[in-house]
Amino acid sequence: MSTTINRRNWLKSSLLFTGALSLPSILQKATANSKSSLTTSMATDTEIEASLLREGPAIKARLSANENPFGPSAKAKKAIVDSMDNSFRYAFSTLQQFSEKIATTEVVGKNQVLLGAGSGPLLHAAAMYFSRNGGSIISADPTFNSLPRDAEKSFNAKWVKIPLTANYTHDLDAMEKAIDSTTTLMYICNPNNPTGTVLDTAKLKAFCERVSKRVPIFVDEAYIDYLPDPQGSSLMDSVRKGQNVIVARTFSKLHGFAGLRVGYMVALPEMITQLEPYCNRGDISATSVSAAMASYDDKDHLQSALKKTTESKEYLYKVLKKEGYEYIPSSANFVMFPLTMDGQRFTEEMLKRGVGVRSWKFANKEWCRVSIGTLEEMKYFEDAFKQLS
Ligand SMILES: Cc1ncc(COP(=O)(O)O)c(C=O)c1O
Repeated sequence: MSTTINRRNWLKSSLLFTGALSLPSILQKATANSKSSLTTSMATDTEIEASLLREGPAIKARLSANENPFGPSAKAKKAIVDSMDNSFRYAFSTLQQFSEKIATTEVVGKNQVLLGAGSGPLLHAAAMYFSRNGGSIISADPTFNSLPRDAEKSFNAKWVKIPLTANYTHDLDAMEKAIDSTTTLMYICNPNNPTGTVLDTAKLKAFCERVSKRVPIFVDEAYIDYLPDPQGSSLMDSVRKGQNVIVARTFSKLHGFAGLRVGYMVALPEMITQLEPYCNRGDISATSVSAAMASYDDKDHLQSALKKTTESKEYLYKVLKKEGYEYIPSSANFVMFPLTMDGQRFTEEMLKRGVGVRSWKFANKEWCRVSIGTLEEMKYFEDAFKQLS
């Protein structure tokens, strides 16, 4: 099948979301059920949004959403300005060019790429597709819960949560054992959010080769760019080898595009054909996709953002050590550490001091996750943290 982006397909997918054309049954169910409306679960009903709204614009250090505070590259910003003059036109040809660029870089077919306005909508599309007949989705616990949570909350699938190992990584053996006749998808976030832990690549590849023969595997690589060898650590190779693996990427993290909204998915052509009706590529703006194309090749900027992230992360490690706290060494742009007080109280107290962070409860402990900010922001964290630790 072809991923050619034409006006008819775009309109079709847009209309699917408004219910004007015949809907896949899962969409009909969701639309009919006011409690599980698509807009509610996509636009307002997320813990992240709730915490960011609570923080407000006056916050001194927003360290709660794993954004990249160093922002998009100068080339990306220039591409936005340059694309403005033509932004009265629909972005079809730019989107097509971008899909082709991704396909060439990742060495996959053009019909293996699906674009999204960030990877969040792509995860949501997968949640809908893999829940269309009920079933169950297996994930680690804790992990980035958007896909399995949407599947359970909005689309009546069961979410099977497998606790992390004692080292806070995915327990692949337990996840494999949890597969049963109801399993429709395995979700793996690597590096994992919120722990920042990463799986051994060879082990994950062997797992995917074996397990994808039984169930599709969704590998969320939102933070892969923070690893020393992103390409070598990616599961893109498993897709190239014809395995039933779906790889999701976002520009929201190292590329600094969280507000610009660009992401993509790569999978087998037949899987893309299945997922496509659940996606809405018409959401991606011409300016954002032009910026993404510029950023995609801007290795210098990515290196520089990575270097600054590492400096801030090392600073945070020192602060935590100095205050007598342990932490989980992180392969991403956030760090998790166990608290000695109630997590919710801690986040509220930090917020009163102008610093946004998030808390979790797992493995019988209260945890804080701090996103990596600029050095100045890490110093704000330090000042506030010292008052509470
Ligand atoms: C693991 C993971 N996947 C996907 C996303 C969604 O990102 P976006 O929709 O901005 O691409 C996030 C956002 O924090 C994330 O942490």
